[in-house]
Amino acid sequence: MMVCVSPIRPDQSRSEYVNQNDQCCKNPLLDPFKCKITIRNDLKMSTTTLDPVERLLDNVEQGNSIIKNPNVLRHDYIPERILHRDKQQELVTQSLIPLYKKSIPPNLLVYGKPGTGKTLVVRKVLNQIQNRVDKNSYQIKIATTNAKDQSNLYNVLVDLGRQLGLKSKKTPDDKLWLPSTGLSISEVFNRILYVIEKNKLNTVFVIDEIDHLAKLVDKTGKDVLYSITRANLKLKNGSLSLIGISNDVRFKDKLDPRVISTLSEEELVFPGYETNEIKEILEDRVPLAFEENSVSSGALNLCASMACREHGDARRAIKLLDVAAKTAELKQDSSITDEHIRLASQRIEVDKESQQLNAFSLHEKLLVITIMKSPNISTGDVYAAYKSLCKVIQQNTLTQRRVTQMLNEIELSGLITGKMIHQGIHGNTKKFNLTVSPDLVKNTLKSNEIFVDIL
Ligand SMILES: Nc1ncnc2c1ncn2[C@@H]1O[C@H](COP(=O)(O)OP(=O)(O)O)[C@@H](O)[C@H]1O
Ligand SMILES: [Mg+2]
Repeated sequence: MMVCVSPIRPDQSRSEYVNQNDQCCKNPLLDPFKCKITIRNDLKMSTTTLDPVERLLDNVEQGNSIIKNPNVLRHDYIPERILHRDKQQELVTQSLIPLYKKSIPPNLLVYGKPGTGKTLVVRKVLNQIQNRVDKNSYQIKIATTNAKDQSNLYNVLVDLGRQLGLKSKKTPDDKLWLPSTGLSISEVFNRILYVIEKNKLNTVFVIDEIDHLAKLVDKTGKDVLYSITRANLKLKNGSLSLIGISNDVRFKDKLDPRVISTLSEEELVFPGYETNEIKEILEDRVPLAFEENSVSSGALNLCASMACREHGDARRAIKLLDVAAKTAELKQDSSITDEHIRLASQRIEVDKESQQLNAFSLHEKLLVITIMKSPNISTGDVYAAYKSLCKVIQQNTLTQRRVTQMLNEIELSGLITGKMIHQGIHGNTKKFNLTVSPDLVKNTLKSNEIFVDIL
């Protein structure tokens, strides 16, 4: 059967091929050439009628696709109207009015669960202010970064500093040089102040998902963050204000109280959307994103109510519609129905859980596998079973203390649950179970060779 896997050159017609192998075999089953012909015929058929790539491309060509403009469904798309956020737009604008009046705005902290429109509103207000200010008479510089995408505070500052014009390559003026590594955090900050002062920049730093920064800052980091929030005391020309956007409402507990008090000179909370609000946001986007009549009203209602259950998350609603549309297109259905939305929701959930699992460390993954293999397992037994898995895959074991700590951390992620069981005079023990299906764990981890023998 080796012949069956031999590639077929596109320029090689079948007759040429026959001539090259002009030999005959009486038994067709033993005839490698016959076998080759049959398989090649199948392959040829599949490229014209069944090939999934061709089929989807054909659909698009024949106008059978549902999605008209995929950009409208991207998370960074700025819609023409921002619905149900007038008050928040007003408050952000009000906080930034000093910038428009050529003075220094206060630092602002914006809070709210994911998908409540924080990033969108802040971007829109800053864009509009910037468009109105006469660039010749007043230099406004807005630099934005997302702390989630950076691995440390140094990188956060480099990202912002470069947007102010600091260079990655050495410059004649040493202080305008901002290398990607090697300086102390406080020196990076000094160079940022230098460029602001030198060019008289009225600067706004927007640090989105600033809650991730709490994890990135050490002792010196805390001091620098404090200095950033009070930079104006040092600047004679130009200014620096900070807008922090946080998805984590408990973020304040994690930062130095000194930083918090200067960072949140003004605060604004974004509530979750109601179901009807999400529905209207979707209705605004549907005609731009999809072909006419391709979303049933039932599907839209379901989508809005599912996203509302998830703390009124507009991003989730848009993502649900996007995934549902792709599901419908794959099935060659002409419109998005409730069923597609339900399937999309399951798919997103599985993706989310498997991404969470993928982000775990090796030993955290081993603990999840341990619990998958022995449901309802006690803390002590987890440790024994984990040690034997480590032996199989030839890894050093962590201490029992660390493992217990790790189990608590994994429990916080929601992928496992631990239930305290009272055992009378024997004290208490915790019993662990997976909250996701064993298949999800296996499918997520099977691509990593290290786990092959223990899954
Ligand atoms: N009021 C709104 N009107 C229109 N689209 C919105 C609105 N609020 C949020 N969105 C959309 O929902 C998604 C998430 O919004 P975003 O501002 O990124 O949320 P957050 O920053 O709070 O997590 C984006 O695609 C955004 O365009
Ligand atoms: Mg955001």
